[in-house]
Amino acid sequence: MIDIKTTVIKIQTLSGLVDRLKKPTEALKQGRLVAFPTETVYGLGADGLNAEAVAQIFKAKGRPQDNPVILHIADKKDLLPLVNTIPPQADLLINAFWPGPLTIIFKKSALVPDIITSGLDSVAIRMPSHPVALALIKGAGSPLAAPSANLSGKPSPTAATHVLQDLEGKVDFIIDGGPTDIGLESTVIDLTSEPPVLMRPGGVTKESIEAVIGSVVLPAKTDQTGPVKSPGMKYKHYAPKARVILVEGAEASARIQTQADTFKAQSLKVGLLVADKNYAYRADVIEYLGDDNSALAHKLFGLLRDFDQAGVDVILIEGVESTGLGAAIMNRIRKASETSDD
Ligand code: TXA
Ligand code: MG
Repeated sequence: MIDIKTTVIKIQTLSGLVDRLKKPTEALKQGRLVAFPTETVYGLGADGLNAEAVAQIFKAKGRPQDNPVILHIADKKDLLPLVNTIPPQADLLINAFWPGPLTIIFKKSALVPDIITSGLDSVAIRMPSHPVALALIKGAGSPLAAPSANLSGKPSPTAATHVLQDLEGKVDFIIDGGPTDIGLESTVIDLTSEPPVLMRPGGVTKESIEAVIGSVVLPAKTDQTGPVKSPGMKYKHYAPKARVILVEGAEASARIQTQADTFKAQSLKVGLLVADKNYAYRADVIEYLGDDNSALAHKLFGLLRDFDQAGVDVILIEGVESTGLGAAIMNRIRKASETSDD
């Protein structure tokens, strides 16, 4: 693919937003790619009803064709044309959590191109709350297909600089709206089966979803070779270049230091992401989890990228409690630490 010139547009105030978004909006209408901020992570957007435009997203990210993308809408009424039916649970979830970090999977309508859904009969839809995202979708006059704006397999971008690192020369515009608020991708819930399946934990917690629609289940463990029901789950995500090792359970600090010493003895550069600020850790880069999960979610992907920039070979990460937002944090750390051959 021939490299194109990437223009970064900084949005510092919401006044004059529509004007500032004119060129990217035009680019989207012409089937080109625009990266934009949402409250979760940056998205790589294209006109979601233009199959050729969506194909460019897969090319730019190096994303496998069998991993479907989310359609982003700016108004609840824009949902109806894209889906077959809206189950009652969807109404409840939409009223409770849209606009916001919740993606819902519906049976798709004929309007949705196959490339969006990788040929599945279901489509993932979300209405983000970020004012820049909403203005861009409205301006484009079409739902925007947008996976996270990283190269496939890299941590999702939570700042415009991350998008630039991965996609410079591959997108027409990057709209810089500053660091994203939540820092982890949206929660994905599948309402095409009963009971609903929580496909990906995220900004909206399982607990808060269950308070609205009752029990939901977690997906059965994916068979890497079997038929693809939840395509994204078989891929390694969120991974930095460095090897990531998750350390959980009792005496984590001492066990982490023992492992760090072993790697140091092999002349490897070691990074730590740990809880206890009073423990006398010895490593090349030491970062702390902190005691606030929102703050940790906000900075996690940036830290993983920073470890890479520092040339770290191994990152030892201490586990956090897997409730509330902690479930999404642990999910991302686990995925980063899974060994995979893709
Ligand atoms: O927060 C977010 O969701 C961000 C922002 C940009 O909106 N987007 C995002 O997109 O994280 P992406 O493509 O990186 O992740 C979408 C996930 C993937 O795991 C994909 O496999 C799954 O949603 N997905 C999409 N459509 C699906 C479908 N029809 N059935 C099952 N899973 C689906
Ligand atoms: Mg992604």
